[in-house]
Amino acid sequence: MCAAAVEEAAAIIRAGGLVAFPTETVYGLGADALNTIAVGRIYVAKGRPAFNPLIVHVDDVEGVRTVARHVPPMAEALAEVFWPGPLTLVLPKRPLVPDAVTAGLDSVAVRVPAHAVARMLIACAQRPIAAPSANASTRVSPTTAAHVVQQLGASLDLILDGGPTSVGIESTVVDLTGPRPVLLRPGGIPRDAIERVVGELVLVSSAARGDVPLPSPGMMERHYAPQAQLVAFDAEERDDIAARIAAHERSGGRAALLAHDVDDVTATCVLSMPRDSEAYARKLYAALHTIDDAQCDLAFVERVPFGVQWDAVRDRLRRAGVAGDAG
Ligand code: TXA
Ligand code: MG
Repeated sequence: MCAAAVEEAAAIIRAGGLVAFPTETVYGLGADALNTIAVGRIYVAKGRPAFNPLIVHVDDVEGVRTVARHVPPMAEALAEVFWPGPLTLVLPKRPLVPDAVTAGLDSVAVRVPAHAVARMLIACAQRPIAAPSANASTRVSPTTAAHVVQQLGASLDLILDGGPTSVGIESTVVDLTGPRPVLLRPGGIPRDAIERVVGELVLVSSAARGDVPLPSPGMMERHYAPQAQLVAFDAEERDDIAARIAAHERSGGRAALLAHDVDDVTATCVLSMPRDSEAYARKLYAALHTIDDAQCDLAFVERVPFGVQWDAVRDRLRRAGVAGDAG
């Protein structure tokens, strides 16, 4: 059964149009993955470089087989535990997947999303749906429909509004095309949970040294970045930071604070950030969008704890441009 709005969206996808839709991670900018012209529109709308390939969203493991020519046992094992959910697997591609989707690579990234609207859209369109995050290239990913409208509204045929997303950061990307599984991007599923299923993952930093295949093309650029300059600080430095914020605002600047404890600090944007890593991830992009909307030019971000459950948040803070180690 397709809800009316989803049926309309599915018809647009089948006709080669662009639809933004919610997933459990972030909103996606979707097109028919088997239609080269439609996929080309995604790159134009985002201003995305052609060398950065897209994730193909499918219904289930059978859908994966329609775009991947080989689904290795490790993929089956991970699918069993984590799909539907925020895990993307890079697998050898079938020839029918256009080069526009994979940026000419011989592999394709696939994911079975958990969000009910995303699932209904794929089922109603009866197509694999190529979808990057629905933000302008290098800008902060959208976790609400309003974020999508702000950045891409004019380029879209339809947006399905499913409310705020529940995970809040993108899927974990694991490359299974080589002899050992490689973590290309930390994300919604923590590394240790994946390692319990397939053993130790090769990390991109060691992949870049050349002993395993090239890292994900999309991991090389600055990404997820708000307009403000971001500066990391430790909780003990709070008084000093409060003084720097006050001085910045006195001289006509606009400052933001992202911290666990924000009592008694005055700034243009004061954002209280959760101590739990999942709650922090859910809130992070909305906080960065708030900083942009308020036109803050300087933001102080309290360092987050070390530990594997903070890996994805620490990665996104670093790539948002936090000066000094974000962790
Ligand atoms: O949670 C998510 O993954 C969201 C939602 C919409 O599903 N999508 C998303 O897409 O984050 P995007 O395009 O923003 O990020 C896709 C990542 C990029 O880092 C890209 O380089 C990598 O996946 N990727 C895609 N295809 C690949 C391939 N064949 N080999 C290596 N990396 C690939
Ligand atoms: Mg993205």
